[in-house]
Amino acid sequence: MSEPTVSETRLFQPTADFASQSHLGSLEAYRALHKRSIDDPEGFWSEVASELTWMKPWDKVLDESDAPFYKWFTGGKTNITVNCIDRHVEAGNGDRVAIYWEGEPGDSRVLTYADMQKEVSRFANALKAMGIGKGDSVAVYLPMVPELAIATLACARIGAVHSVIFAGFSAESIKDRVLDASSKAVITSDGTYRRGKELLTKNIVDEGIADCECIKNVLVVQRHPEKEPFAHGWVEGRDHWYHDLAKNASDECAPEEMDAEDMLFLLYTSGSTGKPKGIMHTTGGYMVGTYLTSKLTFDLKPEKDVYWCTADVGWITGHSYIVYGPMQNGVSQVMYEGAPNYPAENRFWEIVEKYKVSIFYTAPTAIRAFMKWGDDHVTKHDLSSLRLLGTVGEPINPEAWMWYHRMIGAEKCPIVDTWWQTETGGHMLTPLPGAIATKPGSATVPFPGIDAAVLDEDGNEVERGILAIRKPWPSMLRGIYGDPERYKSTYWCKWDGKYYFPGDGAIKDEDGYFWITGRVDDVVNVSGHRIGTAELESVFVEHPAVAESAVIGVPHEIKGQGLVAFVIIRTGAEGDEDVMRKELTSMVDSKIGKFARPEKIIFSGDLPKTRSGKIMRRLLRDIAEDRPLGNISTLADPSVVEILKDKIKG
Ligand code: WT7
Repeated sequence: MSEPTVSETRLFQPTADFASQSHLGSLEAYRALHKRSIDDPEGFWSEVASELTWMKPWDKVLDESDAPFYKWFTGGKTNITVNCIDRHVEAGNGDRVAIYWEGEPGDSRVLTYADMQKEVSRFANALKAMGIGKGDSVAVYLPMVPELAIATLACARIGAVHSVIFAGFSAESIKDRVLDASSKAVITSDGTYRRGKELLTKNIVDEGIADCECIKNVLVVQRHPEKEPFAHGWVEGRDHWYHDLAKNASDECAPEEMDAEDMLFLLYTSGSTGKPKGIMHTTGGYMVGTYLTSKLTFDLKPEKDVYWCTADVGWITGHSYIVYGPMQNGVSQVMYEGAPNYPAENRFWEIVEKYKVSIFYTAPTAIRAFMKWGDDHVTKHDLSSLRLLGTVGEPINPEAWMWYHRMIGAEKCPIVDTWWQTETGGHMLTPLPGAIATKPGSATVPFPGIDAAVLDEDGNEVERGILAIRKPWPSMLRGIYGDPERYKSTYWCKWDGKYYFPGDGAIKDEDGYFWITGRVDDVVNVSGHRIGTAELESVFVEHPAVAESAVIGVPHEIKGQGLVAFVIIRTGAEGDEDVMRKELTSMVDSKIGKFARPEKIIFSGDLPKTRSGKIMRRLLRDIAEDRPLGNISTLADPSVVEILKDKIKG
């Protein structure tokens, strides 16, 4: 804990203009609300929950009797889709646009809240026609088309548990997730576009579920109903075109009454060991958490804002801040199918101008890519509609923050740097715009209801240490599907169940601002995507020639972090390194997905190990980043270090 603390001293006060119109217009208002929320969490959260529609009110706000298996709003009954859709239609806002959808090739669709009510109901009835009902698990492998939002909401409408799988995952990843969740059906599309190329999603699904007996039906959305479908396989009896089922499906579907603690969805994420874990979120707490965080963090004004979150619904950001949070607030939003640089590097700014986007939420990795592509792509567009900017997914470097502030925000838009996780369901640390002055690179302060601290291993508060969350909060995960022990040991054991352990390092500065320093476990954040080093290592050792491997994260100019793999080949199995590298890369593609490809694969005869045989990853990171190595005398064979140093350079 001797590394230097924060050197960034710039402070950006909210402008008077923004503050005067914002939900929480002053630091005092934030402080009062935060204090209240910590002194009386049940009172605070029950007031928030009362802003939403319930079929039956809850008996108890928080049940701690089986901690850390906390329960929220027990006895309450609701359906989250009522709050996302019906409430707005009933309030007379059915004509408000819910989704301005933009396809990568330039096609577009507009859906109002009234349209969403019909489309979600129709989709829900199609699912029912396939025999899907309350409690059934449904996998969703769709590109960023409106049906992705519609399908997830349709599952929620009938009480089915959705398990959305990001459409960049490989067939084998689909298989792992479908089997773990025992999904009964998959919803996919015939295809999509990515950087102008066709991506045949249906065929990837076919390969993934070939041996999944639990899957009884596949529902296929046609990407271009008016054109020839993309090339696709077909299994009679199992596969159905959505447009065929939709013809006979009513556009009315009563919402299933759900218990506050009924599961809403599963979303798989990587941890430091083993296979990805199915994070469980339930109905009531997640609903309340995503509603309030969307409203306050983005200062949503549904009558006038056009909101755009550039994430994919396949990740938690899209679940909470495309589907559930913004829609509960009844705001209009943009949804975009494709890449930021297709057909050209100005695509995002063209979309901002076209739809007059007022709130824009993206990832630091994207911001760094825009910086690299050059200011000309930005300056040729009118971005004056923007009033608030956000970032998510990884620490943002102050240089990228300043560029975002100047080039995109015209030095007037507050930037909300939101720290949270798949597990937390919603924002945990974030400036509330209008109330909290920002510092480039800091996620600033805890959201109301969140009690955060920086601790050492023993639970003492320190300036630089490990981030910890003191109390449960409504949108927290309810566990890891099928593995309650792993839930306890991963998140609640570090400080004897007194704190939630998110796995991130942090600094708390003299103003009480938090600075996330990155993961403290073996999880690497590549372009905002979590990848467990153990997952990649287990892919490599499946290759018959590989004896052992160690994967580490290293800083990467655009991606934030990149992966470097060290691979030991079995004696006698040595061959051409380039051939081997290609084979290993294609194994990563097929077992995880292209986004998990390492930047470098280094073959070596040995790895630095302690005398007890443990690979010294910290030393591998020092070697990869060309840092001074310090004492290496505890190594079983110190000579491997020099060999590896040469290999890294060459
Ligand atoms: C991990 C969670 C949060 C939704 C997208 C990623 C890192 C996330 C920030 C931020 C610094 C951040 C953390 C966290 N992270 N947001 N604003 N500043 N780091 O969700 O895949 O569950 O990853 O992303 O390391 O633990 P996820």
